[in-house]
Amino acid sequence: MNIDRVSSIIANVLYAVDRMKMPVSKAFVYVCNRFGCGAAGVGREELFKLSRDFISSYYRIRYIIESVGGGHNPSYRMMAKVYLYLMFREEGGIIPSRLRKSVQRGLPNIDSIEVIPAWARLSYPRWLYERLLDVLPSSDVEELLEAMNKENVWIRVNTLKIDVDRALRNLEMEGVVLERDRDIPFLARVIKSGKPIRDIELFKNGSIIVQDRASVLTVLAARPERNMIVYDFAAAPGVKASLIMQLTENSARIVAMDLSIRRLNSMKLLLKHYGVDVSKIDLIHTDSKRIVFGEKADLALVDAACSNSGAVSKDPSVKILLRDQSLPIKMKSTQIDMLLNALRHSYTTIYSVCSILPEEGEEVVDRVSKNASSHKLVDTGLKISRGYRKYDVWNVVSRTFPHIDKCEGFFIARFEY
Ligand SMILES: C[S@@+](CC[C@H](N)C(=O)[O-])C[C@H]1O[C@@H](n2cnc3c(N)ncnc32)[C@H](O)[C@@H]1O
Repeated sequence: MNIDRVSSIIANVLYAVDRMKMPVSKAFVYVCNRFGCGAAGVGREELFKLSRDFISSYYRIRYIIESVGGGHNPSYRMMAKVYLYLMFREEGGIIPSRLRKSVQRGLPNIDSIEVIPAWARLSYPRWLYERLLDVLPSSDVEELLEAMNKENVWIRVNTLKIDVDRALRNLEMEGVVLERDRDIPFLARVIKSGKPIRDIELFKNGSIIVQDRASVLTVLAARPERNMIVYDFAAAPGVKASLIMQLTENSARIVAMDLSIRRLNSMKLLLKHYGVDVSKIDLIHTDSKRIVFGEKADLALVDAACSNSGAVSKDPSVKILLRDQSLPIKMKSTQIDMLLNALRHSYTTIYSVCSILPEEGEEVVDRVSKNASSHKLVDTGLKISRGYRKYDVWNVVSRTFPHIDKCEGFFIARFEY
């Protein structure tokens, strides 16, 4: 491994994540295109894994540097070197001498640190760890945060394009080892794969879709039926909308709204690629908090924008955005307004967020159910955990937890007229 090259690449990835607010995968491609990722002495896939793990270790590295006297604001380059230094040390390997000298010169006490608090060891902002302690026992908080440091990949077979058995046989032949979901016949978790899923033909042609189990459960909580009219209040890029079309055999009609024209354009292409009958989908570029319809839909889906705190395992750059403790509170008012508008325009409404924070889950639903007399909060019917017990609504709402369900952390609630 060319240490100087590797530390420069991962430091640049951190720059792109932190300053340019890019997800890790995008930041990595950006850095490789701009500065090149060759001559690092490690393959591209391995280099991506290192970058991902480095971003995930952000709080741990900062804590260690600060506690050995390296200051509050270490450079990205210094963080990258310390990350690599600790990696070699933890793996019991020999630390390359240039790296060892460089780190020990800047941080002479680097080897003295022994006890690290849980939030830093697991590498999350301290406030997040403490906030979770308000709603979960400490052993659960640690297991949850630890589970979010590992990625789970779920595959949905797109039955608009291929039947389940054929897809699974084909994947097996490609060397993909899967664990089928115990309840959902078209869903499986990837245990091992010889090559990246994105390089498999079935993925390239839209016959299989990478979709987290929690995201699938959100749609199952909606129980979409043939020919239903659906208003999707935060639709892009359309993964859940495409599942609604799969479950209704392309017979539902969906009004798909989103504030982002860029994401709506991707949605249009994606739905076609997935074999969705796009003549049944109306895409509307709008602020769905305010839109008014003359008719009520059978079903509304509010898969609101959120802090993404439940999706850290998919993209550890979320951890860095979560430095801003006010993020969930800032999202909350939009979530409430969007949900209230959805209730005005539908008989059944599903509200979901990929957040482990009660501000965006129980607190939103609690407030809305007090203000919306027309609708009742009802059981989602999902066989997963309930909400946080501290809140009155805990017993009717649902949550997925990464350490229990091996998927992202989602909050899901169902309202009926
Ligand atoms: C979690 S994503 C939706 C994912 C989508 N349901 C899917 O399954 O592919 C949230 C979406 O809400 C959109 N959004 C945020 N504020 C909005 C608003 N006021 N009106 C409409 N869409 C909004 C974002 O642009 C983003 O695409």
